[in-house]
Amino acid sequence: MKNSLLERYAEQLPEGLADCQTSLGEGDTRLIELVHLPKRHKVDLKIYAKFEGTNPTGSFKDRGMVAAIAQARRQGARAVICASTGNTSAAAAAYAARADLACHVLLPAGKIATGKMAQAIAHGANIVALRGNFDDAMAAVRRFASNAVAVVNSINPFRIHGQKTIAFEVIEQLGKVPDIHALPVGNAGNITAHWIGYSEAAGIETAANYVFAGDWQAKSAAWTAKRPVMIGAQAAGAAPFIAGSPISDPETVATAIRIGNPQSWDGAQAAISESAGRILPVTDEELLNVQYALASEEGIFCEPASSAGLAAVLAEAKAGRIEAGLTVVCTLTGNGMKDPQALASRAKTVEVEATEAQIAKALGLD
Ligand code: F0G
Repeated sequence: MKNSLLERYAEQLPEGLADCQTSLGEGDTRLIELVHLPKRHKVDLKIYAKFEGTNPTGSFKDRGMVAAIAQARRQGARAVICASTGNTSAAAAAYAARADLACHVLLPAGKIATGKMAQAIAHGANIVALRGNFDDAMAAVRRFASNAVAVVNSINPFRIHGQKTIAFEVIEQLGKVPDIHALPVGNAGNITAHWIGYSEAAGIETAANYVFAGDWQAKSAAWTAKRPVMIGAQAAGAAPFIAGSPISDPETVATAIRIGNPQSWDGAQAAISESAGRILPVTDEELLNVQYALASEEGIFCEPASSAGLAAVLAEAKAGRIEAGLTVVCTLTGNGMKDPQALASRAKTVEVEATEAQIAKALGLD
């Protein structure tokens, strides 16, 4: 088996990309059927988690970053730059290090989860913390783009190419196209990439293809007959798609998706309208509850933003808005260990003297 993502899907990607790659073993993530949550919620659906937390830097960004960095090398860039809520910068820093490129990251000050910050530091990025949010950082990054300094946010079409491979993997692992695919939406690159992937697999044109600016024609023949309904989930306090236009002060505990002005707005709209899908708000409490339930009942520890898609699906199903018996895939976008503070309030630790009696009492085994 060809072992790197860009090699495995070379037919579906721009030519020669794998020749410039610096793979860290991205993609090929597990599709895990949930066994406890649907039952406890009395939801008659087959729900699978596509757990992207096992990527090399712990999020789905690695799929897109390996492609964007390959292209940056190919065009002779000396450096890459990105705005980030944490995961893009972790991936950019790691892949840039491997490719021997400088990496500049602009982050909203004080709003990056500890683990993600540690990653950018560890991989040697030049880190600038902005007094502002992700949207301010994104606007600033655009001003520094050049051939020598490649922007590796998802406005870079190679990021989308890499990330569309998740749809191919889901189809292969499931042996069919799911009825529904749900995921969190922040900057909206990922929902755009999922939709392009499913559309290419089905050989159907999508308006989301505008991201490739006419430079791309899918080459391989269609191998599926349908596309899923797409459900996007936004944190209720950072939900420009629910508001219908960009918002200026997004706020949520799910810092990964604390974004008010999504750059791939039209891509997300194409995914939603062409799939007859929807974008739904999820409260911070709901997404933290689902994050904790996934970890404590299913053994899957994702970060807060990652649980938004599943939270939306469970709420919709309980409200009778999803037909029984359907197959649903939820992308869990990042690893829970990136944000160790998120579930701190659930701590059940008790401190005792190291005596058998006290330990037994604390454990309820006395
Ligand atoms: N989930 C996680 C864990 C993310 O880090 C992001 C985005 C998303 C979901 C949303 O994906 O932006 O394509 O709609 N994180 C970006 C970053 C913004 O900078 O790491 P999207």
